[in-house]
Amino acid sequence: MRLSTGIEGLDAILGGGIPKGYVVAVIGSYGTGKTTLGLHFIYEGLKGGESCIILSFDEDEESILRNAKSVGMSLESFKNLQIIRLEALAVKKSFERVESELPALIKNMNASRMLVDSISVLETLFSEHERYQILSSMKRILKSLGVTAIFTSEADKFMPTSSKYGILEYICDGMICLKMIRKSELEEPTLGLEVVKMRGVKHSRKPKPYMITEKGIVVYEEAEVF
Ligand SMILES: Nc1ncnc2c1ncn2[C@@H]1O[C@H](COP(=O)(O)OP(=O)(O)OP(=O)(O)O)[C@@H](O)[C@H]1O
Ligand SMILES: [Mg+2]
Repeated sequence: MRLSTGIEGLDAILGGGIPKGYVVAVIGSYGTGKTTLGLHFIYEGLKGGESCIILSFDEDEESILRNAKSVGMSLESFKNLQIIRLEALAVKKSFERVESELPALIKNMNASRMLVDSISVLETLFSEHERYQILSSMKRILKSLGVTAIFTSEADKFMPTSSKYGILEYICDGMICLKMIRKSELEEPTLGLEVVKMRGVKHSRKPKPYMITEKGIVVYEEAEVF
């Protein structure tokens, strides 16, 4: 079974959407639309009557709702959405809480989709070993409860198709990379979306152009960036 991402062109590239129960990383540099892509995925679930969770390490609830609105998504009217904000500095302490309370929250809400935005903070605060443990334990919880999730993260500065700390690509079932492609300093950059991996799915690896508009992300899956 596939879950629509809420972005037509991306569903087309994936042959219908994200396989149920997958944890998918969305990586990219700042401002490439990682949060927006995640919000589309949540909004699509909410509209279909699914319960959804947003775990935010970046923005508070108000700013998430405002940003969603600026790209055409009214999240505030949905009762089946739970937004949890974790302060960056308290993450170390509160992560244990997340691990212990997340399973109950998912069960109580009967949540089927989750957005974690962004795990970069987590990547900065923990050692490599701890990061691996945290990410894999989160994935285990989500898998065991059949939740389909998107984890957003910064990309490596020099390798846009790798995550900044290089663990995420091995832990996640799929990875989507958002790239800003500059042909020259004077030209407006082109945004390109690339499905780097999606276990068990036949997909193109060619970067596809996309735009962020007042209606959110539009992927032109038939066009080519170059
Ligand atoms: N209504 C809109 N019309 C056009 N572009 C918009 C609109 N709203 C937002 N954007 C663009 O989308 C970008 C933000 O996208 P988003 O927050 O999803 O990116 P991000 O990758 O999560 O960024 P960050 O690294 O800061 O978390 C803005 O910087 C802006 O360029
Ligand atoms: Mg963001």
